[in-house]
Amino acid sequence: MQIIHTIAELRHIRPTLGPELALVPTMGALHEGHRSLLHRARKECAAVAATIFVNPLQFAPTEDLARYPRTFEADCYMLEAEGVDLLFAPTPAEMYPAGNTTILHVREVEDRLDGASRPGHFAGVATVVAKLFNLIAPTHAFFGQKDAAQLAVLRQMVRDLNFNLELIACPTIRDPDGLALSSRNRYLTLEERSHALLLSRTLRHIEARLDEGVRSSGVLFAEAHELLKADPTVTLDYLAIVDPDTLVPVASATPGTLIAIAASVGTTRLIDNLLAP
Ligand code: PAF
Repeated sequence: MQIIHTIAELRHIRPTLGPELALVPTMGALHEGHRSLLHRARKECAAVAATIFVNPLQFAPTEDLARYPRTFEADCYMLEAEGVDLLFAPTPAEMYPAGNTTILHVREVEDRLDGASRPGHFAGVATVVAKLFNLIAPTHAFFGQKDAAQLAVLRQMVRDLNFNLELIACPTIRDPDGLALSSRNRYLTLEERSHALLLSRTLRHIEARLDEGVRSSGVLFAEAHELLKADPTVTLDYLAIVDPDTLVPVASATPGTLIAIAASVGTTRLIDNLLAP
């Protein structure tokens, strides 16, 4: 695996990777969820590039940029084991040199779900991902379904800016007890982790009710809120039943409707979701 840190090196190496190239953009602190993206990318494409960049633009000043886990050596080990051809790991100054002022807004979608609680977050995500798409020119890009709102923003961006690539959503990977894998899980104490299971448990309850034919968002909300309010350790940010592309609420869930949840346990903000059966 070639490891590079500069755009100049990237411009030099990109043509050697051939026409079909997968991109797996990450912020590092890789876990089995990332491994599944890498694995799928390797299976589907002739060459695979990954990026590690903790993007300052998608963190608000009050958020966890400084304490975001950085595990570069272990990350390289996983990328190598998964057959990645190229790792691009730029510095913030390389991506955002002094005088850089362009920010990409995916209007409306960027203000929904996590975008409502984290103003500016999705503009930061869209900007960095657009830059990576321009720099790396992938034919396929792989993202986790766990970040469902991010996926909606990026799909809209790919459509609106005519990026010539296929955006592929890969299923959420979970621990055996149901907790969705996230780089932020490592912030949880054992005690907090057990409370965090309420997110996936609530989604499982909704899924079971959907299977039973309960489709009304109002009914599903009422039941989910009953479960959630039983544990005051879990501070709900949002529970949303929405169209997966626009993130606009729907009155009743149809197959493919996105049911998404975000909550804080201690100081750790977690998200999870399911697509209605
Ligand atoms: O999902 C992530 O890890 C990040 O938001 C991404 C897509 C790598 C952009 O920084």
